[in-house]
Amino acid sequence: MTEPALEGPVIVTGGAGAIGSVLVRSLLERASEVRVIDNLSSGRREHLTPSRSGKEARLTVADLKQPATYADVFRGGTAVWHLATNPDIRKGYTDPSLDLEEGTRATFHVLEAARHYDVPRIAFSSSSVVYGFPSVLPTPEGYGPLEPQSLYGAAKLAAEGLLSAYAHSYGIRTYIFRFANVIGPNMTHGILPDFFEKLRADPTRLEILGDGRQAKSYLRTEDCVAGMLLATDRAHDQVNLFNLGNVDQISAREIGEKVVAAHGGGARIEYSGGRRGWVGDVPVQLLAIDRIQALGWRPRWSSPEAVDHTIEEMMGERHARPGGAHRF
Ligand SMILES: NC(=O)c1ccc[n+]([C@@H]2O[C@H](COP(=O)([O-])OP(=O)(O)OC[C@H]3O[C@@H](n4cnc5c(N)ncnc54)[C@H](O)[C@@H]3O)[C@@H](O)[C@H]2O)c1
Repeated sequence: MTEPALEGPVIVTGGAGAIGSVLVRSLLERASEVRVIDNLSSGRREHLTPSRSGKEARLTVADLKQPATYADVFRGGTAVWHLATNPDIRKGYTDPSLDLEEGTRATFHVLEAARHYDVPRIAFSSSSVVYGFPSVLPTPEGYGPLEPQSLYGAAKLAAEGLLSAYAHSYGIRTYIFRFANVIGPNMTHGILPDFFEKLRADPTRLEILGDGRQAKSYLRTEDCVAGMLLATDRAHDQVNLFNLGNVDQISAREIGEKVVAAHGGGARIEYSGGRRGWVGDVPVQLLAIDRIQALGWRPRWSSPEAVDHTIEEMMGERHARPGGAHRF
């Protein structure tokens, strides 16, 4: 199916990151111009590869916390995809102001720039962690009360509130996506990079945080991006809220076993113990995805398939750079 063209320049914050760079490649096929704002803290310039038709995004290296350095990038824009933030949930525990600055205040600056330059639409990458420990699984978008367990989750929820207020106060059409675990190329954090890093440091043992029974759903980046694009094409409320996840789950133990097997099977698996892997962790996560499915979206990979595919890619990257500067 041919995707509809997007009018005018679109802006992607965090476009040099793992999800952002895949989104940028899709947008390049459809929009007249794609402008990326990224401070390259976890993203990389080289993630911004040209589209199949040879088009390239325009990168502005700037920090969202300093709006004067990038606000004019919004001039003439027709949509903002706001993905930039600190992506690592655990960091907020030792640095409690991090997510307030990188998640909440940065979102305020992005919204102000959008308001100033009359950008009519904004899409935002929120997270399943806003649900906290939900008593309903799969968890629907209408679930409440929302009690995030981490400062990252609190910042996402606060950002959602700001987006809703700007939508209703200033007429900016808003899309909020609550992602499950999104995995794919160029990831810098999360369970797979963590396990690969541990096995690189010590190939004889893999420590899994928690009791290994944590079960979550995993989505490939391509599926996540396809879901966001479809929703922004087909949903037209003032505030459009969607879960984006998979219909199934996979446990930390199963992921650990797959990673160990991919490394030759020699490492023994140990557990640090406890139901949660770390403070702020949500041990069981499964999102209800009926709302996005009703628009016609289906993930191509199940959770175990997404994990298998991503492990294969990461092993390929290791073998491509033996002993050298690989990330895993
Ligand atoms: N990957 C997941 O499982 C997952 C799950 C839920 C939500 N999300 C959200 O999706 C978004 C993208 O995550 P990702 O996994 O691609 O992470 P990522 O780290 O690969 O991407 C984040 C990008 O934002 C940039 N950035 C960070 N702080 C910035 C700042 N102050 N100014 C400018 N640029 C900044 C980074 O350099 C990076 O390119 C984030 O908002 C994240 O919270 C991700």
